[in-house]
Amino acid sequence: MEPLILGIESSCDETSVALLRGKQVLSNIISTQIKIHEEYGGVVPEIASRKHIEAIDIVMEEALKEAGVTLDEVDAVAVTAGPGLVGALLVGVSYAKALAYALHVPLIPVHHIEGHIAANYIAFPDLKPPFVALVASGGHSHIVYAKAEMEFEILGQTIDDAAGEAFDKVARVLGLSYPGGVKIDHLSKQGNKDAYPLPKAKVQGYNFSFSGVKTAVMNLLHHAEQVGESVNKADLAASFQENVVQVLREHTIAAARERKVKQICLAGGVSANSRLREVFDEMKGEFSVYYPPLQLCTDNAAMIACAGGILHRQKIVAPLDLNAYPSVKLGERIL
Ligand code: KG4
Ligand code: ZN
Repeated sequence: MEPLILGIESSCDETSVALLRGKQVLSNIISTQIKIHEEYGGVVPEIASRKHIEAIDIVMEEALKEAGVTLDEVDAVAVTAGPGLVGALLVGVSYAKALAYALHVPLIPVHHIEGHIAANYIAFPDLKPPFVALVASGGHSHIVYAKAEMEFEILGQTIDDAAGEAFDKVARVLGLSYPGGVKIDHLSKQGNKDAYPLPKAKVQGYNFSFSGVKTAVMNLLHHAEQVGESVNKADLAASFQENVVQVLREHTIAAARERKVKQICLAGGVSANSRLREVFDEMKGEFSVYYPPLQLCTDNAAMIACAGGILHRQKIVAPLDLNAYPSVKLGERIL
């Protein structure tokens, strides 16, 4: 039987614990703090840390119960050690260290982005590298070449805002509550994507910049307000979404062609976007396109346990003085 991996995720505003045997998810409990941070229009780090502490024990108990296993059956503990909010990460890391110590099992440090990518291994157990992955979330926008399992090369990344961050900020100025990505996605369905032409940033290589389009939306709203014109919010949401989605698509496809890979994986919260999925689905003649189901796109511990299981096989183990690494780059091994 494959080892039983307990995964822990606490890098931002979701406290999650999952139990996986290989790529089979036995449980994946996610306690989200969205309702609390909504009031402030974004994640308040201090509050996030405190809420993780309150939730983590309860979430773990529930994960064990749902999986129908006990702690003494756990073979390894995998935890997001970075990147993320330092205080939030420290809750998961400290909890994981205590568990690994008490259970006498290995502690496996997982990079949050490799976790997002690994969500595709859960959804598609036969998926094998090489592939190009687009990882777009609230904190990251990366185009990654996966050479082998857990071996990555960054081909491009955002030079300013992450794609999800731009979605959230634009949502806010459109009067939609945090996190706004999914609300823009829904509102866009009633809008015309060609209504408002917005600038596409020209950035070197496969890098991205989303602050320009975000500012253009803000300026447009501001100007309309000043001259007393009305703005069709659904049209503006759709135009903004189309702009971001097309930039993500163009760069990812170009990177995949250059690397001569035939498989593309989407990952991270923004990969839940219905228009993003649609434009990548249109590329299915040239590429095999993979994206996880919605609940595995946004932050969850199943993806961390899955990445942890692969690292466990590769004998990657962290010492019990493991720290949290708030800005560790993908590819830098956390030890
Ligand atoms: O991966 P994730 O849960 O957390 C980070 O690691 O950052 O991603 C959260 C981000 C948020 O910015 C949220 O607005 C965005 O993913 N998001 C979406 C959609 N669902 C979530 N963005 C666009 N369309 C969606 N349907
Ligand atoms: Zn994430």
